[in-house]
Amino acid sequence: MSRQMMIATMLEELASSLRLLDHPLGFVPTMGYLHEGHLSLARRAREECKSVAASIFVNPTQFGPNEDLSKYPRDLKRDLGMLEEVGVDLVWTPTPEIMYPVGFQTWVEVQEVSQGLEGAQRAGHFRGVATVVTKLFNAVRPDKAYFGQKDAQQAAVIRRMTEDLNFPIQIVVCPIIREMDGLAMSSRNVYLDEKQRRAASVLYRALSEAKGAYDDGEKDAGKLRDIMKQTLAGESLAQVQYVSCADTETLQEVDKVTGRALLSMAVFFGKTRLIDNMVLE
Ligand code: PAJ
Repeated sequence: MSRQMMIATMLEELASSLRLLDHPLGFVPTMGYLHEGHLSLARRAREECKSVAASIFVNPTQFGPNEDLSKYPRDLKRDLGMLEEVGVDLVWTPTPEIMYPVGFQTWVEVQEVSQGLEGAQRAGHFRGVATVVTKLFNAVRPDKAYFGQKDAQQAAVIRRMTEDLNFPIQIVVCPIIREMDGLAMSSRNVYLDEKQRRAASVLYRALSEAKGAYDDGEKDAGKLRDIMKQTLAGESLAQVQYVSCADTETLQEVDKVTGRALLSMAVFFGKTRLIDNMVLE
């Protein structure tokens, strides 16, 4: 039986809506301004679970002082329509006051795996992510939670946290959904002007070239990083922040690729910062 999608804001509304849902319950946390990447998580949850809940919350504690919190794109009406279309049962849209009431002072910090890559560039980011995801998990109590490989370090942090804190939740990490030219879908892509948007496909090209070299036998991580840097250097609008070839679990840089490794990068186009990655198996 299909029924109308439920929408809850207050914790009490969420709790009473959750009581109407069968288990297993799949959960898709988002910051809204949804695209096919987000929807792929919701569809996967729909396939694997009896009920699906999503959240839309632009979490202030994961944005740095010079980041884009105030201008982060939002379109709640459109988001709700898209989630309804996919067959989501319940959407939770808490406010900052609900998530962080006056007097809030408890944080979740996942130490080592938060430190490199994104963590090194965005102080406090993963503390904000881990804290809000803990709160979302505790309020929604799902059986499975769905995250994107797009944010590979975030997925690693959440996996670690889920194990360390004994959350009885299975973490499912889903593949990166890309535009036709290879650009990974992101809510932040709307910041790009036309020229920057065209230039932004260089991230995928750089990753693909390094992966090609790896598949042809290049196992020296330094050389793989150089290949990515060289490709990125060919695009004048791209300002590289970091390029990495790291262990997929610890996210520490490696010298040689032995087992699995994660190629990843953060690149500015004007003020817009894009990230992307590819796994070497
Ligand atoms: P947000 O950036 O909205 O992303 C929500 C989920 O969608 C994340 O798990 C992200 O990895 C996934 N996602 C984004 N783009 C994707 C793509 N192109 N392909 C596949 N999956 C993609 O990540 C967050 O929100 C927040 O940090 C959150 C976990 C909600 C905590 O605030």
